[in-house]
Amino acid sequence: MRFDGRVVIVTGAGAGMGRSHAKLLAALGARVVVNDIRNAGAVVTEIEATGGIAVADGHDISTDSGSEGLVTAAVERFGQVDALINNAGIAVHCAFADTTYDLFDQTMRVNTYGPFFATKYAWPYLRSSGTGRVVMVASKAAVMGGAHDLVHYGASKGALLAMTRQLAFEGAAEGVAVNAVLPTALTGMAGDGGDDLDQAVRTHALAPHMAERLGVDLADAARLAERSTSVVSAVVAWLCHPACPSNGEFFNAMAGEASRLTFALGTGFSDPELIVDVVRDHFEVITSMDSHTLMPSIAVR
Ligand SMILES: NC(=O)c1ccc[n+]([C@@H]2O[C@H](COP(=O)([O-])OP(=O)(O)OC[C@H]3O[C@@H](n4cnc5c(N)ncnc54)[C@H](O)[C@@H]3O)[C@@H](O)[C@H]2O)c1
Repeated sequence: MRFDGRVVIVTGAGAGMGRSHAKLLAALGARVVVNDIRNAGAVVTEIEATGGIAVADGHDISTDSGSEGLVTAAVERFGQVDALINNAGIAVHCAFADTTYDLFDQTMRVNTYGPFFATKYAWPYLRSSGTGRVVMVASKAAVMGGAHDLVHYGASKGALLAMTRQLAFEGAAEGVAVNAVLPTALTGMAGDGGDDLDQAVRTHALAPHMAERLGVDLADAARLAERSTSVVSAVVAWLCHPACPSNGEFFNAMAGEASRLTFALGTGFSDPELIVDVVRDHFEVITSMDSHTLMPSIAVR
């Protein structure tokens, strides 16, 4: 599969999964805008060393002007934008009781406002591309629970799932498809938030599972981290391809597993005279999912 002729913006591509997405897409022929507030130049150097085409961009996507600057730089350099991967994110672990307004606000700014701003500025170019693609990098923390001390983070990523669905309806007629990925990989964020991949591999509860699935020695932290991100990139890259038919869908990507996550509406119980006692008496059938309708698909032109 090739991406020749396509221009792809990857936010937060100076490290972790974003770096991996940028490198894969450049290797497959895309011209890539490597955005990050740190390390973007080093990733471009890596891409160029293997014959790829990329440009570094240091804008902070969490501000309106930063995202506008990113898209302007992309268009000035490459003349178009065909795909946007909203990958930049932060995750600061903090118990809910200790979560301050400032932490909640900072998390929402990077993880939710950033994708809103970047997508807003890229939208006219994605529409004129005819096969525009947006990938929202969300998280299982939005819906699956189980991530400790990340209520604020889960909320910021849940908003991306809602944005994915709504944008998918808006973009469909103009060929713009918007999907979300809920990844798991061994990156700095998966550890203590720094760049210590050994630490991430040592402490991540799923590291042994990932090592086994990927056939990599758990002691080889650098290789395990690299493999765990590259298999996520395979899913993200396909969602950026013009031939990918998905729109408004959510995908799990972890250790080589790729699967769709969806919502279902139970058939439940219905009574035009519904009163609280009737709700209580029929609660079993109301909560049952034995009969249900899946979230509808959204066809892209
Ligand atoms: N690692 C996981 O298992 C996991 C799980 C679920 C979701 N995610 C999501 O995947 C994405 C990539 O995370 P990662 O694990 O590769 O983490 P990472 O920390 O290695 O990479 C994130 C990058 O985003 C950059 N960034 C942060 N704020 C920015 C801003 N305002 N503007 C531009 N760049 C900014 C950082 O500098 C960093 O290089 C994030 O959105 C994260 O929330 C990761």
